[in-house]
Parts: sequence; C-alpha cells; structure tokens
Amino acid sequence: MITLDLTLPDAHYPIHIGRHLLAQVDLLKPHLPIPSVAIVTNTTIAPLYLELLEQALRSAGVACRSIVLPDGESYKTWDTLNLIFDALLAGNCERKTTLIALGGGVIGDMTGFAAACYQRGAPFIQIPTTLLAQVDSSVGGKTAINHPLGKNMIGAFYQPRAVIADMALLDTLPDRELSAGLAEVIKYGLLGDAAFLGWLESHIEQLRARDPDSLQYAVKRCCEMKADIVGQDEKESGVRALLNLGHTFGHAIEAGLGYGEWLHGEAVAAGMVLAAATSHELGWLSEADVERVVRLIERAGLPVKAPNLGPAEWLRHMGHDKKVEQGKLRFVLLKQLGQAVISSDVGPEILQRVLTGGHITA
Ligand code: NAD
Ligand code: GLY
Repeated sequence: MITLDLTLPDAHYPIHIGRHLLAQVDLLKPHLPIPSVAIVTNTTIAPLYLELLEQALRSAGVACRSIVLPDGESYKTWDTLNLIFDALLAGNCERKTTLIALGGGVIGDMTGFAAACYQRGAPFIQIPTTLLAQVDSSVGGKTAINHPLGKNMIGAFYQPRAVIADMALLDTLPDRELSAGLAEVIKYGLLGDAAFLGWLESHIEQLRARDPDSLQYAVKRCCEMKADIVGQDEKESGVRALLNLGHTFGHAIEAGLGYGEWLHGEAVAAGMVLAAATSHELGWLSEADVERVVRLIERAGLPVKAPNLGPAEWLRHMGHDKKVEQGKLRFVLLKQLGQAVISSDVGPEILQRVLTGGHITA
C-alpha cells in the first residue's frame, strides 16, 4: 500500500492506494469521531462489495446503516440527494455519524454534498470504486449534483477525512468504464507532466489489460498531481482550474445529449481533442501534437469525435461553465503537450472553426 497526504491550510488527509483495502477497518477507524457510519452506495455496487465492508465494520464494533441509491449519472439530482437525507433522518443519524461513499464519481459527489449539508456538516470518507473516482473525483473535495441546465452546478467544496482507493475493486469494472477513467488519467499527462504522457503512450495497452502495477502507478501519479494542485488552490481561484482540461466542451456534451448518454470520461476525452484543436488554431500545438493526443485517446478506447450539437447549442451549454467570468468563456488549453493554461483568447471565428471542423461527428 502507498499512502499520499493531501495538505490544505487547515486540514490534511491520507489517500491510501493498494489492493484489498476494503475490509481493512484500521484504515477507516481513526477517522470516525463516533463508531457509527452510513454507507452510501448504489444498486450495482451493493451486491458486489457492501456486505464485505459492513461485516468488517460491524466486527470492529462500528454501527452501520446502508443507503442504496439508483445507479447512473441521470440520478445525480436533488431527488436522489433527498433519499440520503430521508434515510439519515429516519435512522436518527447524528452529526458525528460518518458518511462513507462506496462508489464511483456519482456516488462520491452526491455523498460528499450530502455530508456537507447534513446537520451543517458531517464527516465523510471516500472509497472510490471506479478508475475515474480513484484518480480524480474522490480527491480534492469537489461535491455536487447536476441541474438540467448545467453539470455539477449545485454543490460545495467539502473535504473527506480519508480516501481509500482499493485497486482490487477495479477487477469488476466494465471495460467501457475503465476507458472512461483513462480519459482523466490522460488529462493529467496533458495538463502538467509530459514525461507521464510519454509513459502513458508506452503503457496504454497494459492499462487497458488491467496490469496491476501499471494501474497502481497511474493512480498514484494522478493522485500526487491532484493533491499538489488542490493543496495550492483548494477553492479553484487559480491553478486548480487546469484540472478542467476538456471539461468546458465535455460538460456541454453531457448536458447537450442528456446526462448519462455519454459517460463523463468519454465526454472529457472528446473535449480534450477539441481543446487540442483549439490550441492548434491559436498556434500553440502543431498538427502532429494534435494527432498525438487523438491517437492516445483512441488507443484508450475513447471517442475522438464530439457529437454535432450545432454551434448555438454548444455555446448555450458552454455558457453555463463554472469558469465563465463576466459572461466571457474561459478555456483550459495547451501551450504545449504537458503544459496547460487558462485562456479567454478564443475568438468566435476560432470557436466556429473548431465546433464545425474535423473533430466533430459529421
Ligand atoms: P459512475 O459513478 O456513474 O460509475 C460508473 C458505473 O460503474 C456505474 O454504473 C457504477 O455503478 C459502476 N461501478 C462503479 N464501480 C464499480 C465496480 N467496482 N465494479 C462494477 N461496476 C462499478 O461514474 P464515474 O465515471 O466513476 O464518475 C463520473 C462522475 O464523477 C460524474 O458525475 C462527474 O461529474 C464526476 N466527477 C467529479 C469530480 C470531482 O472532482 N468531484 C471529478 C471528475 C468527475
Ligand atoms: N476534477 C476537477 C477538480 O477536482 O478540480
């Protein structure tokens, strides 16, 4: 097991990465203010892993209730969030009851938001079960639900007490979901580490084949980068925005097609291609650089062409992006491969060319 530390001005927490950590209650127990937890999970993950976690906790003297939500991005809503509050209140859960998110990014984001709100703040722990959640969403304290008009628009910054990334849980993850997680992995190489990007280019097949050492290295490297960035800028007033590479386009795809139609990672993948194409239009990336991005994303089993939403729909959805300032769109773009920047220099002609060009489905 590897343990990283995420250090913030007024808090710090461990990120444990290894195999078969789920039943290791000694990793959880030090973070429980009272021996009582509510595990939040979904109908797909519960039959696979819930009993193991519950049994381990109960045998360590921890009172345990479970809240099993419907599965899917389309359920990342107020109504589902209320199911968590209903269960916590019906079970007389106290403010010191720890919420445990056992799931992917959808469960993690909703449980974290519920914890931020329940009795004005209950402790919570992330046990991410997808690659995407292990490399990105479980770390850093962004929590949210979707609104029909915009992705992750209602939420809070609220940090977990610990993150436990059990790589063995990925054994049951469908291939399509593994690829979706690889989109966020590639994002880290593109935005800030050219050497890691090169490593990904030579290990992408091992990652897709779930080679344990390659997967663990990728999770560790991404969590190191994320912990470093969040440590510098917890509330996204600067450098943290770089973690949104591909997301301005990606969130528009998710909202434009309807949540759950494309997976989040798939939308980010096609969004990163559009960000690379925009960077090329600005004279920052060469055609060969863009081709390198396309090739790696394709080899990861991800879409490289975005759906054709039509320019007006693209702009409408991108207008709800959280990076918009005084009505102006701001994009995360690539000065070079391995170096991202925030830019508000993308004029309407460039945007028009990118959104009607060769990286959009005909
Ligand atoms: P997800 O949570 O929907 O999980 C994907 C699917 O895999 C689901 O059907 C789930 O039930 C299933 N699953 C999960 N773990 C499994 C396992 N071990 N075995 C078998 N099936 C399993 O999707 P995701 O890709 O993990 O997360 C996407 C969400 O994360 C989006 O809502 C996105 O906005 C959010 N996100 C948040 C952050 C953040 O910083 N908070 C960062 C990136 C993404
Ligand atoms: N996934 C983007 C962030 O955590 O800031």
